[in-house]
Amino acid sequence: MAAVERGYKRWYESAFCRRGRVLADRAAKHVALGGKWQSPYSLDATTIVLEDGGSRLTGRVRSSLYPEIKFALDVRVHEDGVVRVRMDEQDGLRKRYDEAASWALLKEPVLSPSLRWCVGKQEAKVVYGEGEQVEVIVGFEPLVVRMKMDGEEQVVLNCQGLLHMEHFREKVESKDGGIPIAEGQETQRFIQFPQNSWFEGDTEDGFWEETWGSWTDTKPKGPESLSLDINFPRHGHVYGIPQHATHLDLPTTRGEGAVFSDPYRLYNNDVYKYPVSASGLSLYGSIPLIHAHSADSTVAVFVAVASETWIDVAHPTKDSTETHWMSESGILDVFLLPGPTPDQVFGQYARLTGPVQLPPHWSLAYHQCRWNYVSSDDIRSVQKRFDEEDIPVDVFWLDIGYSEDYKYMTWNKDRFPDPTDMIKDVEARARKMVIIVDPHLKRTQDYPVYKEAQELDVLVKDKYEDEFEGSCWSGNSAWIDFFNPNSWEWYKSLYKFNGREDDKWSWVESTDAVHIWNDMNEPAIFYGPESTMEKDSVHHGGWEHRDVHNIYGMLFAKTTSQAVKERTAPHKRPFVLTRSFYAGAQRFAAMWTGDNLGTWEHMAVGVSMVLSNNIAGMNFAGSDVGGFFGNPEPEMLTRWYFVGAFSPFFRAHAKLGTERREPYLAAEPYKSIIRDIIRLRYSLLPVWYTAFRESSVTGLPVARPQYVVLPKNEPGFSIDDQYYIGASGLLVKPITEAGVAKTTIYIGEDQVYYDFYDGHAFRGSAEGKTVTVPAPLERGPLLIRGGSILPSRERPRSSSPLMKHDPFTLKVALSQSGCASGELYLDDGESYDHREGDFVWRGFFAKSTEKTVSISSEDLALKNLDRAVDGVKLATYNGGNAFANILNGVQVERIIVIGLKNKPSKAALGNTDLEFTFEDGISAVGRREGLASKLTIENPCVLITSDWEVVLDL
Ligand code: NOJ
Repeated sequence: MAAVERGYKRWYESAFCRRGRVLADRAAKHVALGGKWQSPYSLDATTIVLEDGGSRLTGRVRSSLYPEIKFALDVRVHEDGVVRVRMDEQDGLRKRYDEAASWALLKEPVLSPSLRWCVGKQEAKVVYGEGEQVEVIVGFEPLVVRMKMDGEEQVVLNCQGLLHMEHFREKVESKDGGIPIAEGQETQRFIQFPQNSWFEGDTEDGFWEETWGSWTDTKPKGPESLSLDINFPRHGHVYGIPQHATHLDLPTTRGEGAVFSDPYRLYNNDVYKYPVSASGLSLYGSIPLIHAHSADSTVAVFVAVASETWIDVAHPTKDSTETHWMSESGILDVFLLPGPTPDQVFGQYARLTGPVQLPPHWSLAYHQCRWNYVSSDDIRSVQKRFDEEDIPVDVFWLDIGYSEDYKYMTWNKDRFPDPTDMIKDVEARARKMVIIVDPHLKRTQDYPVYKEAQELDVLVKDKYEDEFEGSCWSGNSAWIDFFNPNSWEWYKSLYKFNGREDDKWSWVESTDAVHIWNDMNEPAIFYGPESTMEKDSVHHGGWEHRDVHNIYGMLFAKTTSQAVKERTAPHKRPFVLTRSFYAGAQRFAAMWTGDNLGTWEHMAVGVSMVLSNNIAGMNFAGSDVGGFFGNPEPEMLTRWYFVGAFSPFFRAHAKLGTERREPYLAAEPYKSIIRDIIRLRYSLLPVWYTAFRESSVTGLPVARPQYVVLPKNEPGFSIDDQYYIGASGLLVKPITEAGVAKTTIYIGEDQVYYDFYDGHAFRGSAEGKTVTVPAPLERGPLLIRGGSILPSRERPRSSSPLMKHDPFTLKVALSQSGCASGELYLDDGESYDHREGDFVWRGFFAKSTEKTVSISSEDLALKNLDRAVDGVKLATYNGGNAFANILNGVQVERIIVIGLKNKPSKAALGNTDLEFTFEDGISAVGRREGLASKLTIENPCVLITSDWEVVLDL
């Protein structure tokens, strides 16, 4: 593959990974030979201090390898039960980077106020939680941390004894290289030679310098890598640590039958044409969060580290998992999330790193992108063609070609002579634009952004402390150092379209309809080592790039998102798309899966990658519809539109030089089918927005894999080609193969599911059952889970803001017990007024008795006044708020009930009889499959914002 040809490191080409893996090998071999591998690290019980009222235990750790080196251990229990374990070298020769968590975390976590560690001779222990079910035990010799739930071990740190924090040391020029271990002499060797040689290896492998290809990484600080085993003795499935182009249920990298030979790597890289399901090759973003799951519980571990990290995954048995984390630098800062359900894990992670920001409503609609739309008139004619063909679209994108010589925020005036007018033409159709801004600055004094950055001294430095120079689209370039606080206000001021008070340059030819796309922010550097920045480059505070690499892209997106927000008054919600990300980036930006290929396998892996990002907090995720590279044939393009329409982020994009493929160019029947797919997305925007609102409050993913929704149903744990949309009950399985007319969908519960299009009822079973559903091009497989009520808006419009006052359809899909419920959240979609209580949050309920079915609407906010919405207590809410008043008069124009057992004799709203039609079919109750009955009430005369009840007499 091209990506591999261009060169990314294999595990054995990263010295610290080599050292870490070799350590694991020695340990395993030693145990296999009957030895006992014991970690050299122990906690000195005499140094233990209980702080913060007892919720925090600190103490001194020593390693028998280097008794003179001191390490400080700090174990804290947060208010919500999350445990944080930190270890750092104390009074060392140099300092380790300890700021990864501060970038990732939303705020400093609150410690539990009322815990008491109990310190014994061999261990310290703390017990908490409802019914005291959680137990955290710190074993002293060796140092081991265990988290138990109801007496069962859930997560164990260092039980394999692979913990190793390489201490800072002076470089000693000549060193006895030691005697290599001869094959078969391990046990003997262990007895005869000092333990540190056995533990660390005989030679200093890449301690002070490392060469890879033509690159030499000088390592002025010497070795400081970290190795830690994190084991899940009761969990046979692990998910997360995005981003990798592979399955959600992570394939193994170690042990018998390991699927991949390299560990998963977290090192943000620009990897175009990345290979699919071939390895744990690191891609553009990194989130060091892993979920471990079984039918009994879900737990997670978040490792706050920003340097290059490799993670081995093995299943010693089918019901247990061993992971081994190896990072190049930084302190040990590990968060144990006790769960024990997936929903609780999501809540715990969201309290740490923040939930996804509630995106502007329009950003959930369809985005049309291409590298490049070449001129203002190009944009105008694309817009015209969409309108002529009645295809909805909300956003047109400009790639790098808009700028003058890749000096972002400046216009190429030959092609874009009238940028503000062009944007206004787009705005006039209630649409937006997204324009690309990359982090590299063309090094020329006639580029004000570069000049000012240089004057302010906010550019990344090279190892000689000179300005770092590299190459990117703009040729010889410099990079803004977003770790430098002095860059922040300055960078934001560039976005002011009304000019700046100090009369300096700003992006005046822009309006607040323009939002931003941050690309190449890994950072991508042409001809750099692994297409990125040299690790010995220097950032603010003297930190090397190696220490902060995985966070760089997120800080760019963070500053951009603040800039876009702050250019509006009163503030509107910003939209930023970022290619690179780290834990916490969900607070600032959406992401996409980068430069995929227009192939079926890339389409398929995009689905599992979106799921994997979703469970790690990056809910607003999607892949380039159509594939970035290549010219997809019409069938593939059509299927990809369905994939996109059911991804949280829905954008078509194509590389420079590919054939134009805007949907209006497709021949029939593809054009009409694609139009219908996009319209389907628009009709379901209420579902998407409601799902995002829920995520923005609870941290639950928008795209929910099987194990999240049905955590006890084992056969679903590895499924990653079908998923649910929020809590709506929609279950989708995009087709990602050619020539398919039907497919199978797995139903992991004893429930009725209905075909979205015709209401055909399928039955699942408690053990799980696979059903066959039709999947012609015009009917991407989509089921509604019995028990759901879906709000939709069925009137096609050219862009989503035009739907604001459109009436709703409620589709009630009865469950096997004849009930259903659903939610609808609405606000103005762009301001922050919802934080002041300006929103509508409705609950819909269907209840059955022997003789009646009632369908009602209630104000959910009033019922949940003690809860918070997007950071603000609902207490400020009142049902007659300004936004609700704007919606006054918006009707429910249709209620559809699927699965009634018979035709009602009457439908009534209070004393008023309602007309309805009824198509006979099978009932939700029972076990029959086939077309379900369908009742339709047109114009029930009820408002979306009011409480009402419609009663059907059976
Ligand atoms: C790389 C991005 O991944 C791609 O989407 C974009 O079109 C090109 N850079 C050009 O900006």
